[in-house]
Amino acid sequence: MLYDVIVVGSGISGLFAALYAKRAGSDVVVITKSNPFRSNSAVASGGINAVLRQGAQDSIFKHFEDTLNGADGLSNQKNINEMCTDAPNIIKELSSMGVKFDAEENGEIKQRPFGGTTAKRTCYIADKTGSAIVQNLLQQCKKEGVEILNNHQLLNITKFDDKLAGITLLRREDSHVTAFACKSLILAGGGFAGIYRGHSTNPQESSGDTIAVALRAGMRLSNLEFVQFHPTTLKNGSLISEAARGEGAYIVDETEARFTNELQTRDKLSRTILEHMQKGHKVYLDFRHLSPDLIETKLPSTQKMALNGAGIDIRTELLEITPSAHYTIGGIWTRADTSTDLDGVFACGECAATGVHGANRLGGNSLLEGAYFGKIAGTEAAARARRVDYLPIDFAQVNKEYRRINMILDEESHFNINAMRKNLGETLFKKVGVYRDEEALISALEYVHYLMKNQFGLHCVNKERHNNVELSAILEFRNALIVAEAMILSAIKREESRGVHFRSDFPDRADKVFGMSSYVKSFGGSFLKISFENDMFENFFYKIKSYFKKLKG
Ligand code: FUM
Repeated sequence: MLYDVIVVGSGISGLFAALYAKRAGSDVVVITKSNPFRSNSAVASGGINAVLRQGAQDSIFKHFEDTLNGADGLSNQKNINEMCTDAPNIIKELSSMGVKFDAEENGEIKQRPFGGTTAKRTCYIADKTGSAIVQNLLQQCKKEGVEILNNHQLLNITKFDDKLAGITLLRREDSHVTAFACKSLILAGGGFAGIYRGHSTNPQESSGDTIAVALRAGMRLSNLEFVQFHPTTLKNGSLISEAARGEGAYIVDETEARFTNELQTRDKLSRTILEHMQKGHKVYLDFRHLSPDLIETKLPSTQKMALNGAGIDIRTELLEITPSAHYTIGGIWTRADTSTDLDGVFACGECAATGVHGANRLGGNSLLEGAYFGKIAGTEAAARARRVDYLPIDFAQVNKEYRRINMILDEESHFNINAMRKNLGETLFKKVGVYRDEEALISALEYVHYLMKNQFGLHCVNKERHNNVELSAILEFRNALIVAEAMILSAIKREESRGVHFRSDFPDRADKVFGMSSYVKSFGGSFLKISFENDMFENFFYKIKSYFKKLKG
């Protein structure tokens, strides 16, 4: 198959990217390995940030300033400014597609407070904002002729003469390996917090496939050490949306006393909650003072989640909570136009490191980031597709994938994939969690290396070729190990505390040495190099190069 633009991922960024590429005249397909409603965008329930009414209460500058303050001294200010400026247009555009944000009788969109913000700025649809947006975007994509291909898993990028030629995919329906050629590729496959299995709000398939693929293809990753823990989740990791605190729920302990500011940024709140737990307390969300009507209209999913996940009626009982891995701030390094180190490959959404969240993301800014950079990625990818031609697919690369898949399917297994995934999740949660130090990080790295050695003994017990979930899980696990190694190495090297990265052995921020992004690059497929750099000049030279490329047509 040939496409001008292939988009991998069906969350808000991938769907926006697909729409914009299609509108710019490209032939577009969205590849998604599972149900789009399992994406992290669909799970981001509490809302999307935008300043809708500028005045004494709020302004785009305040949105910029709050985002910057939340980022703890590490962010791309230009990208933040442009994203916040575009936010009102994104809300208008979503509304025009049929997204029905909760509104007053006069039609004015309602907004709720979220952590770390100085005004009510989060637009919402009760506590199911992400899924409502994804649903409308999917419908819009179909209406405008974007092809959506479910049940296909990205394997790798194929190159010809070291340039983008296309991708290899696993067709899960029959475990067949296939290759698609494209002129531009958009990676929008989400983050990797799912690798903290058992301690994550993410589905287990959020294991960083696109990030591992990018690293294997020679692209740089950035800021992988910044993993955000959501302060309020059930013991099994199910998300209790920040909408709960935005609507006034308290955080209390077993004495029913409040002990913290519920609307501080997530990094600080997660640490405060864990410290309290380490002193022997239990921590709860308390909704009992909220009216049943408010709970029913604004927090219906939270009410259901508490009942189904913990057997708790939040109208009358306290809901026990704990922090869990929620969002990965780092990812594939990108420029402001979403281009990456590999010409023709663009990245947006959670898998990309765009610099807008710095070292700590504000709730409600991830859906915004996805929409904003998705639009840019779609436009840029379509523009490139008009300039270049297809390159041939190297079938030696496809054959290699084919042999790899058959080996996983056919040979005898020595290990249990579920146990290995669970153990990885436990280890990461304990040793690369809200608090980390050198000793714990090195021990986690050793464990990841041990799993890496053993991963080749992992084969399918079930040899069925039709929708073999074990095969997909093994492929995901191999990617998870690559991403875990890169994340831990970055965390070891950043010997300071900043945002969500808190090193107990280096509790202070060290701007002089670490006031810049970290980078991961793979050499020869097995050696990772971590560096800290300021990429200001690189961006400058890229802009000059692109300008002349565009002039040449
Ligand atoms: O808590 C939440 O609803 C999550 C929102 C987000 O991560 O932006």
